[in-house]
Amino acid sequence: MAIQWYPGHMTSAKKKAAETMASVDVVIEVLDARLPEASTNPVVRELRLFRQRPCLKVLNKADLADPEATKAWIDYYNAQDGVKAIALSSKNHGDVARIPAFCQRLAPHRNDNIKQLRMMIMGIPNVGKSTLMNALVKRKIAKVGDEPAVTKSQQIHQISVRQSIIDTPGLMWPKIEHPSDGLMLAASHAVGRNAIIDEEVAVFLAGLLLARYPALLAARYGFSVDGIDAVAVVEGVAKRRALRMRGGEPDFEKASAVLLQDYRDGKLGRISLETPETRRAMLAAKSAPARPSVADDDDE
Ligand code: G4P
Repeated sequence: MAIQWYPGHMTSAKKKAAETMASVDVVIEVLDARLPEASTNPVVRELRLFRQRPCLKVLNKADLADPEATKAWIDYYNAQDGVKAIALSSKNHGDVARIPAFCQRLAPHRNDNIKQLRMMIMGIPNVGKSTLMNALVKRKIAKVGDEPAVTKSQQIHQISVRQSIIDTPGLMWPKIEHPSDGLMLAASHAVGRNAIIDEEVAVFLAGLLLARYPALLAARYGFSVDGIDAVAVVEGVAKRRALRMRGGEPDFEKASAVLLQDYRDGKLGRISLETPETRRAMLAAKSAPARPSVADDDDE
């Protein structure tokens, strides 16, 4: 299933972000640590490279992600030009307090009262931008809306006499290129429920968990996952949780919602939906030329 954002949203948000970026020194790009590349908006990179702004990639919600995968992602991003990466939880104020120093290192020339370090927060909806912003400025500030209709004017917040930060609306892009990215985003609730149905997302998530975290699945729901497929996992959840329809059949819809909520709340354990390795494999599989069929071989 192709998941689409709404082009109208993108146009105005992108324009605004491009204007703001012209007047900042460092871009803080907030990603979901469980799916860093799938939660990367290519538009941020495009604008950033156009303005040649360095970037601090914040792998947020690291408390929910697999620490080993997170470490691999940090190395992956730190190898990129003009990029530094850190993993943290925005709910942990001690972690968040390290951000300005990281940004300072990316823009060493902006280090006095005259040349303030100006930072800008960007990222797709629901990755934790507001939570991070509130922790950075140490007070609750009104959320910048993700849709133009509710977008409040962007505000500059002073962190210290030497540092300021500006927030931007959650920036979406017109088309998610890889269907698995759309499913990962939906599983992590970055795409609204109206965009995609829970059951398809739950089967996708179950397949991924079966492949990478079978022990966590078995431990949470108390049944063996050996030799079963993704659909059977969701059915198993329905049975274990006594989620039945009127005729006694497993209630697939409710079981899907349970599996997704458990993942989102971290109840299954610390899980990452992608690693640099799985990402590379996915991209390689997509760019590989189609193999000739057996029939084609026979013709030769
Ligand atoms: P946004 O501005 O990018 O749209 O995201 P926002 O800060 O509103 O955060 C989206 C959800 O992610 C919120 O949950 C927030 O609490 C949660 N969140 C943000 N950062 C972290 C983190 O580092 N770790 C974890 N575990 N969760 C994080 P919510 O359910 O919408 O609200 P709430 O009831 O949790 O506040």
